[in-house]
Amino acid sequence: MQVFETKTAVREAVAPWRAAGERTVLVPTMGYLHAGHMALVERARAEGDRVIASIFVNPTQFGPTEDLATYPRDPQRDLTMLREAGVDGVFMPDVTEVYAPGAQTIVETTELSKILIGKLRPGHFRGVATVVTKLFNIVQPDTACFGEKDYQQLCVIRQMVRDLDMPVRIVGVPTVREPDGLAMSSRNVRLTPEDRAAAVVLSQSLFEAEEMAKTGITASRLRAWVAANIQANPRADLQSADIRDAETLATISGPLQRPAVILLAVRFGKVLLIDQRVVTP
Ligand code: PAF
Repeated sequence: MQVFETKTAVREAVAPWRAAGERTVLVPTMGYLHAGHMALVERARAEGDRVIASIFVNPTQFGPTEDLATYPRDPQRDLTMLREAGVDGVFMPDVTEVYAPGAQTIVETTELSKILIGKLRPGHFRGVATVVTKLFNIVQPDTACFGEKDYQQLCVIRQMVRDLDMPVRIVGVPTVREPDGLAMSSRNVRLTPEDRAAAVVLSQSLFEAEEMAKTGITASRLRAWVAANIQANPRADLQSADIRDAETLATISGPLQRPAVILLAVRFGKVLLIDQRVVTP
């Protein structure tokens, strides 16, 4: 497995693969890898001939009061995991390699970036869309894999790729969960033992809501039930609970007629956890 620290090095590695007709799949990550990331890698291997993972804690997607400094990192362990998973190359740049001084250009989905998580974390999706665009331009993959856990991020990236005619196929990969249902996330390690135990309320609410969605319940009543179920847990500080059209993220309130997605953002202490579930009527 090759490790690249510069844009030039990764481009030079990918170019001959492309010339030989091999398809490159990119797995963008911010490191501190877990089984959810490894599911992305496994899917990437099935989607193409070569896999490049990137490890880059992107500063532009963190707000000024957010956890950039304390975001968990373990690059050596990440590299071991990626090597064992058969990844061909890892792009691991420094911040200055990605963001040149004086850069002025940003990429933003004007509507999708302002709703839901975008309201809680202003500027977050602008940072994501900008860095993903840069990674696509640097690596020039045929395909890129993203987790469905970050559902709004996946919608933002799909929209951006459509709007800007980016020649990259986007593959969404289902959420990987702990045995008790908690969605895997690099942030889970920052939960106290009490909050870790309480955090199971997210997946438990989603799974119950999935069953309720089959009974003809309206979206508003389902949303209200999910919100109340989470608020009943004294450790959970509900930030948002929404039901949206699964494809467009448009609001819905009446009977569910198409697949919808339930999106949750809940704080436990200082840790913001998100989770989602697509439900079908
Ligand atoms: O999902 C993530 O880990 C990040 O948002 C991403 C897509 C790697 C961009 O920094």
